[in-house]
Amino acid sequence: MLVLGHRGASGYAPENTASAFRKALALGGDGFELDVQRTRDGVVVVHHDWSLLRTTGTPSFIADRTYGEIAGLDAGSWFSEAFRGEPVPRLDDVLDLTPPDRIVNVEIKSRAGDAPGLEESVVALLEARGRLEETIVSSFNHASLRRLGEIAPSLRLGLLYDGVLLNPWDYARREGLRLYSLHPAEEYLSADQVRRAHEEGLRVACWTVNDGDRARELESFGVDMVITNYPDRCRPSRP
Ligand code: G3P
Ligand code: MG
Repeated sequence: MLVLGHRGASGYAPENTASAFRKALALGGDGFELDVQRTRDGVVVVHHDWSLLRTTGTPSFIADRTYGEIAGLDAGSWFSEAFRGEPVPRLDDVLDLTPPDRIVNVEIKSRAGDAPGLEESVVALLEARGRLEETIVSSFNHASLRRLGEIAPSLRLGLLYDGVLLNPWDYARREGLRLYSLHPAEEYLSADQVRRAHEEGLRVACWTVNDGDRARELESFGVDMVITNYPDRCRPSRP
């Protein structure tokens, strides 16, 4: 079972910052998950909320700001004074700090009505860094997954969903989505779902697993990846 830091090792460092990603790798994790959005001038930045308020104290939406306006914001001190001055990173900066053998799961944060082009920008960045084939790109916005499949057929697509989705493999087939993995919330996941996903040729990556015993239980279900704020707690009993 692989262990991916959720927004980096976000239990130990401010989420979606270079410090959180480095920490996830330092703790022996196999890689990390991160969230991406586009700024008004089309730069792909790593941030979870639509608004910058919670992490930087600035009451603005990312989509309304240029990268130049975001670059100097402090996205670290809300978490701890020790991280004051941590910037909101660009996706290309995070890819550059990640060794090629580590796994990156890029979660596309997109809404109906967002300016189009985030999917194209992400694919271009991954391609430029030779990471198109092994990066997992997931989204709750399944229209984004469809677009990604059209522009980059070899991409590893992950279907994100919350709650219970009945027979997600049938849904994906019906919608023409060629998936690599299912990304369910861990609390809705059963051993039977994992078994059936594997029969359908799909891997299972579940989130957000912060308890070591639960990680071991999920491992016994056959889960392929856990996404956690605490990568050190979730080390698998079988490597
Ligand atoms: O990709 C798994 C997880 O990150 C999805 O939820 O809201 O933390 O992005 P959220
Ligand atoms: Mg996420």
